[in-house]
Amino acid sequence: MKVAIASDHGGFILKEYLLNHYKKQNVILEDLGTYSEESCDYPLIADTLCRYVLNKQCDLGILICGTGIGISIAANRHKGIRAALLYDNEVAHLAREHNNANVVVFGGRTQKKEDVVRYLDTFLDASFEGGRHQRRIDELDKVGE
Ligand code: RB5
Repeated sequence: MKVAIASDHGGFILKEYLLNHYKKQNVILEDLGTYSEESCDYPLIADTLCRYVLNKQCDLGILICGTGIGISIAANRHKGIRAALLYDNEVAHLAREHNNANVVVFGGRTQKKEDVVRYLDTFLDASFEGGRHQRRIDELDKVGE
């Protein structure tokens, strides 16, 4: 599975931690920036990563800002993106089983790095259940037009 990751300055430290952690597990995350703690704008970061997901350049995207909220809002404005802020273990597996999230989101200033790794591993170990959940996902692209 090809996974890309991006953050604003508020998520930079957590992004660097995840890159290092998963490299040790032989999982390579493609780093789409930002590349320092210098202030930058999360909508643009979300846009870069979401286009990458929508163009099938990766199978899953990880986005991080300070709280995970701004970058979630930005990501979910892209038709076809299902971005889920993972904040506990139950949510982490349901985000895959029910929502088939193609972007997972974290808060670099609000979440502990060990928890984030646990939620991400839980998400990756889960599988989409399809069925009624696929119908609801299909409906997502029709609402709000
Ligand atoms: C940046 O200071 C901060 O506002 C951003 O990282 C994020 O938390 C927005 O929701």
